[in-house]
Amino acid sequence: MKILILHGVNLNMFGKRDPAHYGTATLADINAALADLGKELGVELETFQTNHEGEMVERIHRVPGEGIRAVVINAGAWTHYSYAIADALAILDMPVVEVHMSNVHAREAFRHESVLSTVSAGSIAGFGVQSYLLGLRAAWNLIQNTRDTRRL
Ligand code: DQA
Repeated sequence: MKILILHGVNLNMFGKRDPAHYGTATLADINAALADLGKELGVELETFQTNHEGEMVERIHRVPGEGIRAVVINAGAWTHYSYAIADALAILDMPVVEVHMSNVHAREAFRHESVLSTVSAGSIAGFGVQSYLLGLRAAWNLIQNTRDTRRL
C-alpha cells in the first residue's frame, strides 16, 4: 500500500521559517517522522516537495496508475487560492487529507479559507509535525475502510 505525501510552496524552509508558527523541525525531520510511522503502519511512502505550482499539478496528474491509495497534502499558501491544485486533486479517485502545521483558523483571515476543502476528506491543522502524523493515520484509516470495495 502506497501513500503520497505532498509538500507545497515554501515548505522546504521549515526549520528556518517563522518558528512561532512552524516550530524548528525541518522538512527532512518531518519526512523522517513520517517514514517511521509509515513503517509502523506497514505503508510505503513517497514524499514530494516543490515551489512550482505547475510541477505540483503535474505530480498529481501522475498519481493514477502508480499504485497510490491516498494523498496527504500540505499545500502551504496554495491552500488558500490554487484552484489549479484543487482541480488536479479532484481528478483522483482516492482519499485526500489536508494538513497544516499551524492553526490556520487562528491566524490571518486569508488563511481561514481552503480551496482544497471540497476535494479533501478532511483537514488537520495546528499540531505541528503531529498534524502530518495524524494526517497519515487518517489516510491509512480511510484506506482500511475502502479496502474491500476499491481496486485502485
Ligand atoms: C501552512 C499554513 C499556510 O497558511 C502557510 O501559507 C504555509 C504553511 C501550515 O503548514 O501551517 O505555508 O500550510
